[in-house]
Amino acid sequence: MSILEAHSTEAQRREKPGATPSKPFALPPLPYSEDALEPVISARTIAIHHGKHHKTYVDTLNELVAGTPFENQSLEAIIKATAGKRDQAKIFHNAAQAWNHAFYWRCLKPSGGGLPGGVFGERLASAFGSFDQFRKDFSKAAVEQFGSGWAWLVDDGGKLKIVTTDNADVPFTNGQTPLLALDVWEHAYYLDYQNRRVDHVNAVIDRLLDWQFAASR
Ligand code: FE2
Repeated sequence: MSILEAHSTEAQRREKPGATPSKPFALPPLPYSEDALEPVISARTIAIHHGKHHKTYVDTLNELVAGTPFENQSLEAIIKATAGKRDQAKIFHNAAQAWNHAFYWRCLKPSGGGLPGGVFGERLASAFGSFDQFRKDFSKAAVEQFGSGWAWLVDDGGKLKIVTTDNADVPFTNGQTPLLALDVWEHAYYLDYQNRRVDHVNAVIDRLLDWQFAASR
């Protein structure tokens, strides 16, 4: 099962007689321990962000899709089917946040950050002028995203771009392929950085971004 999918497999959904029915979506485990991203992001922040916020999106989605045709669909399919539909905003928000967070955890790693190497590093430098320029632009976009949302590095028809989205919105509903995400909801940093979003964003870019994951996308 892909961590981005966060969806039970067919085998998991086939219930044994008398067993408690499993939920369609499961909270994907973190790809590292809760304290692995310290001191940039504290274990307490990760525990609450993953164990409470991310879990609540998954749990709420399971309640919302129970008994509906969405029950057997992938997160991506649900997100695409409900994007922009006012009467399905609740399902969209929880499905998108479940996907966004599963993706976000994969964008970070202990001792990450620095300069991406290889072909991807060259592509990035060529798209933004230099890696330093990318760093400045990505940081600025994340810091200036007003209110809750996300900053993304995306592939848009073969071109690397920085975009931001409000609240739960996800770039693939616009045909862009997400390569990296930065969560700039306050729950991602407030315990550690309070109002200093800029310090959190720069520390994550410099010390946690997983460039191998971005290149693999
Ligand atoms: Fe978050």
